Amino acid sequence: MVHAPVTVTVTGAAGQIGYALLFRVASGQLLGPETPVKLRLLEIPQAVKAAEGTAMELDDCAFPLLKGIDISDDARQAFDGVNVALLVGARPRTKGMERGDLLEANGGIFGPQGEAINAGAADDVRVLVVGNPANTNALIAKAHAPDVPADRFTAMTRLDHNRALSQLAAKTGAAVDEITKLTIWGNHSATQYPDIFHAEIGGKNAAEVVNDEAWLADEFIPTVAKRGAAIIEARGASSAASAANAAIDHVHDWVLGTPEGDWTSAGLVSDGSYGVPEGLVSSFPVVSRNGSWEIVQGLEINDFSQQRIDASVQELVEERDTVTSLGLI
Ligand code: NAD
Ligand code: LMR
Repeated sequence: MVHAPVTVTVTGAAGQIGYALLFRVASGQLLGPETPVKLRLLEIPQAVKAAEGTAMELDDCAFPLLKGIDISDDARQAFDGVNVALLVGARPRTKGMERGDLLEANGGIFGPQGEAINAGAADDVRVLVVGNPANTNALIAKAHAPDVPADRFTAMTRLDHNRALSQLAAKTGAAVDEITKLTIWGNHSATQYPDIFHAEIGGKNAAEVVNDEAWLADEFIPTVAKRGAAIIEARGASSAASAANAAIDHVHDWVLGTPEGDWTSAGLVSDGSYGVPEGLVSSFPVVSRNGSWEIVQGLEINDFSQQRIDASVQELVEERDTVTSLGLI
């Protein structure tokens, strides 16, 4: 069955994640091989020319599913009729910066973009915030879009989820696709908590397979949580291809569903589940059913996990308080 074209807006289209993302969206990896896409690229005026160059390359791929590319420096135009909004454009962290330093610099971008989404997006709009600090930027965008249901605003923690899968596979010798039910809780920051207590490896409890609390506390958790900084240190630039890959995974699963018997992680507007204050954008264990994310309910949280979830959620509370005091929400 051939579907109607879906309008996908990518902000920061001329940046390094944009370059790794756009070709995969246009080739069908975001929404599947039967869904044509129209791309809208939003950039700041100085980067429009570079976005035009990327658009020329997209043309040169002759992707059968790509039904048009528009480039703009105007958020209202870029989000008019948008079905999938990938909010990537923001200043990335550089060596020595913590994500908190970015709150003010990037907070100012997401209010106006939320307003533009509120004004013109399609009724089924889905928003993924990648630009850091992703959770709080999503909170800001949502606060400026009162007519869009809150559950359409999400923040990306899928890269953290994929990093955790890879680290756990390396430790246990399992293949990544033998591991299910991992969870990233909290903020996309160094306080995030990758939780293996409910994860399974080939059907066996992952924490029991690992059976090494020192590795969990001193290696696995910090390695996953600080991987973004390690990539910056090694590459001299923040992760790009792996971030684009995670954005593809997030939206693909949101639209097309997560596999039975597994879950993934995404930053969602909290409904109060697991004691996370309502309205904060926090990462949870999630499944997607019929095109909507649902938080996996009823997991028993041990003390080791609860302390770490609480610390990350506390950071989200502080970020919310900061952007409130800056007048950004
Ligand atoms: P980059 O600097 O290469 O590109 C950012 C682009 O955004 C630039 O082209 C810039 O002109 C554009 N931009 C800035 N303000 C804009 C605005 N108001 N509207 C539209 N475009 C705008 O950065 P990058 O490496 O592509 O990273 C983008 C963001 O993604 C950063 O905030 C980075 O920290 C974040 N990131 C998040 C994750 C995650 O897991 N959530 C992972 C990696 C990177
Ligand atoms: C990442 O996790 O790679 C990104 O969020 C970049 C960063 O600043 O850590």
